[in-house]
Amino acid sequence: MSLDSTSLPLLAEALRILDEGFADPFPAEQIPDFEAMGTVLCELAVEMRDNYPYHHPLYAGQMLKPPHPVARLAYALSLWLNPNNHALDGGRATSRLEKESVGKLAAMFGWESHLGHLCSGGTIANLEALWVSGRLGPGRTVVASTQAHYTHERICGVLGLPFQSVDCDASGRMDLDALKRVLDEQDVGTVVATLGSTAVGAIDPLADIVELRKNRSFRIHVDAAYGGYFTLIRTLSSKARVAFDAVPSVDSIVIDPHKHGLQPYGCGCVLFQDPSVGRLYRHESPYTYFTSNDLHLGEISLECSRPGAGAAALWATLRLLPLQPGGSFAVDLEKSRNAARTLYRRLREDSRFDAPLEPELDIVVFTPRARSASVASRAAELVFEAAAEEGLHLALVTLPRAMMTRGSSAENVERASTEYWDQESVRCLRSVLMKPGHDTFMDEIWRRLDVATGNVAHAWAGAARTAP
Ligand SMILES: Cc1ncc(COP(=O)(O)O)c(C=O)c1O
Repeated sequence: MSLDSTSLPLLAEALRILDEGFADPFPAEQIPDFEAMGTVLCELAVEMRDNYPYHHPLYAGQMLKPPHPVARLAYALSLWLNPNNHALDGGRATSRLEKESVGKLAAMFGWESHLGHLCSGGTIANLEALWVSGRLGPGRTVVASTQAHYTHERICGVLGLPFQSVDCDASGRMDLDALKRVLDEQDVGTVVATLGSTAVGAIDPLADIVELRKNRSFRIHVDAAYGGYFTLIRTLSSKARVAFDAVPSVDSIVIDPHKHGLQPYGCGCVLFQDPSVGRLYRHESPYTYFTSNDLHLGEISLECSRPGAGAAALWATLRLLPLQPGGSFAVDLEKSRNAARTLYRRLREDSRFDAPLEPELDIVVFTPRARSASVASRAAELVFEAAAEEGLHLALVTLPRAMMTRGSSAENVERASTEYWDQESVRCLRSVLMKPGHDTFMDEIWRRLDVATGNVAHAWAGAARTAP
C-alpha cells in the first residue's frame, strides 16, 4: 500500500477530545444513509485513481507535494466544526492559530513587525500585495522579470496597474542592467523580485535591487511562493544566501505553505512589513464583527470567508516541525535540493543530455542533446512520454533562446550558434524534486530515465551534435 492510512485512528481520538469541549449534548449526528454514502465514497475512490501518483517519488514533474499527515488530519479534524476565519465570530480558535502561524512565517524571514494572513494561494497573495502597492502608488508601474510567475502581469491587468517585464540573465535571474534601464525610463512603483522562479527555481538578485532603491523610491515585493522556505537551509549558494538575507529590507512577501510547507491546497500567505497598511483595508461591515474588539482577519484581507481548517493544519504542522535552520523540516528541504543536484550531476556526466542551469533550489531543467532547438524540443517530448510509460512522471518547460544564449559560458556560446537556433525557444524536460523521498529514490529515477531515453533515442540519434 502506498497511501498512508495508519494515522487515521489519531483523528478519531482527536475528535473525541474536541467533542468533550462542547458541554451541551446533541443527538449524535445522523448519517442519512450509511450504505449509500459508502457506495458514493468508493465510487469517488475509483474516480480519484485518474491522477498521477503525486505522493510518490516517481512523480517528479510539476510543483506538487502531498501534505504532511498531521496537516491532513488537522484539516479534517477542524471540518467537524468548519470554522470560517473571516471573523472571530466564525473562527475564534483558528483565527488565533492563524495569527500565531503567520507570525512564525514572518519570523522565519527575520521580520520583527508584520501584518499578514493566509489566503487561498500564491496568486491571491500576490494580488493583495500588488493591490496594496497600487493603493500607495496609483498608476505607477509594476516590474517583474520575464521568468516571474505569469499571474503578475494578469494581476496588474485586474488592478489596472501598468506592468513591465524585465529580461533575465543566463541563470533565469532578473538582469540588473535591464532593470536599471526600466527604472530610468519609467515611473516604477514596485519591483517584484522572485526568490525561486516557477520554471527553473532561479533567485533574483534581491540585495542589488534593495541597493538600487537607495536612490529611488519604489516598493519591493518578494514572490517567494515556491522558494521562501529555502531560507532555512544552510547550503544555499552564496548568491542565493545573499538574496534571502536581503528579505528583511523588503515591503511585502508571499510564501505558499501549500507548496513547500506541507499543506493542503488553499494555503498561501501574504506578509507586509509595515502593519499600518492595514488601514487600506478599512471597511464597514454591519453584519460580521460582533463578538470581540480584537482584530478579525477579515478586517485585513481582501477575501471574506476562508477555511479555518487551513490555519489548523498549518499550526499543527509548525508545532510538529518548527521552522528552524537545522531542524527536521529544513533537513528535508535540504534533501530536495540534494536530489536536484545529484540529478544535475548525472545529466552533466551523460553525453545524451544538456543541463544548462545549475539548480539553485530543487528544480532541474534539461534537454536531450540534439543538433537544433526544434530537434531537442521534439526529443524532450518523446522522453517525457517514454518516461511516463516507465512510471516516471516529469514535466516540460519552454525556455526562450534569449535566456539560453546569454553570458560567456562555453555551452551558451555554442548554443548561441545560429545552426542550433532554428526557433526562438527550446522545450526542455523539467523535474521539481520537492519530496524528501526524491533523494533516496534518485537511483530508481535515473534508471527509469535511462531506459526511457534509450527507448526513444533512435528518433533523434544521428541528429545529435557533439558534446560541448
Ligand atoms: C513563484 C510563484 N508565484 C506564484 C505562483 C502562483 O501560486 P498559486 O498557484 O498558489 O496561485 C506560483 C505557482 O507555482 C509560483 O511558483
